[in-house]
Amino acid sequence: MSNYETITVEKEGKVGVITINRPDKLNALSSAVHRESIAALDDLRKDDGVRVVVITGSGEKAFIAGADISEFEGKTPVTQRDTFHEKTLFNSIDTFPKPVIAMVNGFCLGGGNELALACDLRVCSETAKFSQPEINLGIIPGGGGTQRLTRLVGEGRSMEMCLTGDMIDAETAYRFGLVNHVYPAAELRAKTMELAGKIAEKAPIALQLAKEAVKFASKSNLDEGLRREVDLFAICFSTEDKKEGVSAFLEKRKPDFKGK
Ligand code: COA
Repeated sequence: MSNYETITVEKEGKVGVITINRPDKLNALSSAVHRESIAALDDLRKDDGVRVVVITGSGEKAFIAGADISEFEGKTPVTQRDTFHEKTLFNSIDTFPKPVIAMVNGFCLGGGNELALACDLRVCSETAKFSQPEINLGIIPGGGGTQRLTRLVGEGRSMEMCLTGDMIDAETAYRFGLVNHVYPAAELRAKTMELAGKIAEKAPIALQLAKEAVKFASKSNLDEGLRREVDLFAICFSTEDKKEGVSAFLEKRKPDFKGK
């Protein structure tokens, strides 16, 4: 794996783990973190040995405490708009062809929450805290917060988070449907890797198509979504993994999916 300055990338079995590694700045998303994370995702996309990616933050305090506020100074409307119109980290995760899990180990704020929202699943420690605090800086979320958060938790809850900037705790995030699971901090990594490992054993092409189909649900009306689902379902019937999955069921054995 390449050497990065602001992130680390490891492989554990079939799971790639990207760790944002600026604990002294609570893993704030600097432009270098964006750039290096996009590069790391490009590497992991091409690595057939990696079937699931986990993204987390370094240290015990923060997942990601938002955009690096020190970089806001000197930004003009035009440069800021260009940054978010380029290939963003959020969109790179959203369209990544393998499942991505956010392992939220502490503060999950602003752009950190937006990054978690772009992931496919979110798990967190009991100590995690979530917010869209941009309003306190006189701005609004710009990395998908108003859109992905609203689709995930509903307008009323999203509106309150975006208008107040208040933090919610892990239990509230779970009740909102913002996170899939909450674990004691000491168990977070093991439980997350267990979940990632379970998904990593599934058929890779079916995982990619399932992700695409589920994501399409929030971009389309029901008729378009159902048509897209049938098309993607049909594509599965062209794969060797579909033959293997069906044969394994009929032969009462565990399938061995190859991603073909
Ligand atoms: N951007 C840049 N630096 C940040 C940061 C951010 N989003 N969040 C934290 N940091 C830095 C702090 O400036 C501090 O650096 P320093 O030690 O060089 O002064 C370091 O991380 C530790 O943060 P600190 O504020 O001292 O920790 P705390 O425990 O007192 O407070 C928070 C934790 C998360 C409540 C607080 O850091 C905070 O509110 N951060 C900003 C959150 C935010 O508004 N994010 C959205 C940006 S759009």
